[in-house]
Amino acid sequence: MTVPQHVAIIMDGNGRWAKERGMARVQGHNAGMKALREIVKHSDVLGVKYLTVYAFSTENWKRPEDEVSGIFKLLVRYVKSEIRELDENNVRVRILGDWSVIPEDSRKAVQTALARTEDNTGLVFSIALNYGGRAEILRAARAAAEKVLSGEIGVGDIDESIFSEGLYTYGMPDPDVIIRTGGEYRLSNFLTWQSAYSELVVTPVYWPDFTPEEYDRALEEFSSRDRRFGGIK
Ligand code: IPE
Ligand code: IPE
Ligand code: MG
Repeated sequence: MTVPQHVAIIMDGNGRWAKERGMARVQGHNAGMKALREIVKHSDVLGVKYLTVYAFSTENWKRPEDEVSGIFKLLVRYVKSEIRELDENNVRVRILGDWSVIPEDSRKAVQTALARTEDNTGLVFSIALNYGGRAEILRAARAAAEKVLSGEIGVGDIDESIFSEGLYTYGMPDPDVIIRTGGEYRLSNFLTWQSAYSELVVTPVYWPDFTPEEYDRALEEFSSRDRRFGGIK
């Protein structure tokens, strides 16, 4: 099996998982956090270098306030309970998205996690939080425009490499594979720029049920794909 360098995951299906069990949606998110813990560990075991997970989109603010606040509370709990082990395993935490506007206690937890792991050299674990692919592209466009205005570069100098410097994923390779749990065949504004040549693997399994074995299966499917990047064999 070829192990991808960068795996990105759309962790979907928490709500449906809870509903099927007659539970509140937030309990689905809680179960999802437990699944995440195992998937991060397994990524390290497999030798994945970059793991990026979609935790909260720029569109998820549309949800009822109690669900939104529940998700952020769980995030704080997750970060606080996992940070020591992540750090011991040399994992570097990154956040993709505008986390300046998330609730204060979550912001503090994030800040601590970033500071504590910034010098780590192992798995790069990115959490997309208040992330939107379009918002990210606009941000990069503004950054490039600023460089032109300041005279640093000319308009014609804006190429993919310079543009990428304004993306949250700056310095990271594009995802080789994007796994979506919960059965939906769409990207929902995830890694819009970076997904140009990513392999998409969709599984009907809800995120809380996504075990390391399911993860292996998804990566086996990735492994069987013929990636041509527009060329020929
Ligand atoms: C994904 O699960 C988690 C977030 C979007 C935060 P959902 O909450 O979207 O679960 P479904 O899709 O409603 O089942
Ligand atoms: C995508 O799931 C966002 C996250 C997993 C964080 P959604 O449940 O928000 O996506 P849609 O609404 O089904 O497209
Ligand atoms: Mg969903």
